[in-house]
Amino acid sequence: MRIRHPAAIAASEITPRALFDRRREFLRASAGLALSTLVPQAEARLGPGKPSIYSTSEAPTPLKHVAGYNNFYEFGTDKEDPAQYAHALHTRPWTVSIEGLVQKPKTLGIEELLRLAPLEERIYRLRCVEGWSMVIPWLGFPLATVLKQVEPLGNAKYVELVTAAQEDTMPGVKRHVLDWPYTEGLRLDEAMHPLTLIAVGLYGDVLPNQNGAPLRLVVPWKYGFKSGKSIVKIRFTESEPRTAWMKAAPREYGFYSNVNPEVDHPRWSQATERRIGEFFKRRTLPFNGYGEQVAQLYAGMDLRKQF
Ligand code: MTE
Repeated sequence: MRIRHPAAIAASEITPRALFDRRREFLRASAGLALSTLVPQAEARLGPGKPSIYSTSEAPTPLKHVAGYNNFYEFGTDKEDPAQYAHALHTRPWTVSIEGLVQKPKTLGIEELLRLAPLEERIYRLRCVEGWSMVIPWLGFPLATVLKQVEPLGNAKYVELVTAAQEDTMPGVKRHVLDWPYTEGLRLDEAMHPLTLIAVGLYGDVLPNQNGAPLRLVVPWKYGFKSGKSIVKIRFTESEPRTAWMKAAPREYGFYSNVNPEVDHPRWSQATERRIGEFFKRRTLPFNGYGEQVAQLYAGMDLRKQF
């Protein structure tokens, strides 16, 4: 992993222009990187300083926090553990098996996945269920692009995402903190939503291992734990998959996990959040501020019961 100049830049200085310059710098300097297949595409497709229409204009959280304060329990439960230990993760070769209720199951290598779609920069808010939040400039493409490759069958209603459990590199998987591998799930319409992203990079650079290299999910209107890191399998199912957090604490973590300031976690309020790097708390927004785009997915549901 290479974090160069760990954004010693203040958040206020990070303008779209600055982001763009960093990205160009990275793209020029990165020949020979493991992700070299990503580079020509990113170079060709990222417009000058133009983050996607889905991006927030809020200041991105400095890279030192994005890549230094993480939850990746496979590497330990302290926030500093992933940055300290995830360099060991084997990210090549890497394949993602797409299976279950589909016409054409496929196993795609990371290189093939990177060729499926243009890379976009998406600056999204990420709200962790623990009460902190960040703004992260991701590089990626919609999960829908991947799902369309396999022609889902009519009875497929959900997708289960299974992440890596590398016993030799992940000290956490020897401890029974969660039922490994870490799994997550989405209803098919959530998975196909244009905001739902597969991220392969951030801050214009290759995804740091601690953020879920080589590819991770990002679902910006849900609590951060829905965004499974280092995905190895996507399975289409008819019934709602049970996720690692539902198995660990069913009263605390539901399947939907939409950010909702009105539904408290049994042990703490979800009404406010602390943006990492800021002092004062902010009010948490319904659906993390993405309600206009996603609220209709839940029309008619009781979000207190289906939390
Ligand atoms: N994915 C895996 N495989 N293991 C994890 O422990 N933690 C989740 C999510 N994805 C986790 C995971 C949680 S709780 C959060 S808040 C986000 O990753 C954090 O993502 P970040 O470290 O990139 O900010």
